[in-house]
Amino acid sequence: MYAVNFTEVSEFVFLGLSACRPVQRFLLAFSTVLYVTIVLGNVLVVFTVMLDPHLHSPMYFLLGNLSFIDLCLSTLTVPKMLSDLYSDKNTISFQGCVFQIFVLHVLGGSEMVLLIAMALDRYVAICKPLHYLTIMSPRMCILLLSGAWVIGLLHSLAQLAFVVHLPFCGPNEIDSFYCDLPQFIKLACADTYRMEFMVTANSGFISTGTFFLLMISYIFILVTVWKRSSGGLSKALSTLSAHITVVVLFFGPCIFVYMWPFPTVSVDKFLAILDFMITPILNPAIYTLRNKDMKTAMRRLLYIFDGHKVEKY
Ligand SMILES: *[C@@H]1O[C@H](CO)[C@@H](O)[C@H](O)[C@H]1NC(C)=O
Repeated sequence: MYAVNFTEVSEFVFLGLSACRPVQRFLLAFSTVLYVTIVLGNVLVVFTVMLDPHLHSPMYFLLGNLSFIDLCLSTLTVPKMLSDLYSDKNTISFQGCVFQIFVLHVLGGSEMVLLIAMALDRYVAICKPLHYLTIMSPRMCILLLSGAWVIGLLHSLAQLAFVVHLPFCGPNEIDSFYCDLPQFIKLACADTYRMEFMVTANSGFISTGTFFLLMISYIFILVTVWKRSSGGLSKALSTLSAHITVVVLFFGPCIFVYMWPFPTVSVDKFLAILDFMITPILNPAIYTLRNKDMKTAMRRLLYIFDGHKVEKY
């Protein structure tokens, strides 16, 4: 019987974003501020959507769920990066690394499906307003959401199934601040050409395909509005340009990381900052603070909490 375990690497070392001390200090301060903002902003959105009955509609449910995923996505990578910057102990266990890759792809996959669901929601609201409530029923919302999680899970399992048995025999330095498949595969002591192809095929084509699908749907929505009336266009444009910005910022790095054929690793770790620290801030900022209903709801919520305080004392 062969029971050989090739895995001799028990932990990986992150090289981080920079080896230079002053730059690390700056990154620590900058990322701490961003992360605190991400947590506060997204928690605020999630609670406002859950607590205010006025916001119990498909668009806000999807928004609340998007904020939740963004929060998880940041929390998966940023606190570890902060603690590495702070303490100089830049290691992660083998299991920790695999766990990070797994959760990263579940969340990333779900977020992509959720963004499609949000585009669908806007399409129905703008192009088929009379049927909005029947099409985007509570059942449809649940279906879209569970679909998002199931697809994320399947996507992640499918990729991990290929790489989890890779042999590792020594090299364990990851030129980044988090674990992801491209770097992980490169460290394996095997011919990884097919693996790399598989990652490109799976993650790369999914991100690129979703990106184009979303762009086409937004263009389609805009053209529909434009044909109907020129007055509606500017309003639709202001809502949709926000969605489009998020889509470009979220997918840009993904497409680059998984599709770029040359191993210019130092570029994609900086691009990853966009996904873990910038889009999670943009979502609450763009979708929420520019939105009148959301602002009213937050004021109402504040009022309710104040009311409780008054009752108590
Ligand atoms: C996510 O969507 C579900 C179903 O539509 C909804 O019940 C839930 O409140 C949403 N979650 C958040 C955090 O908004």
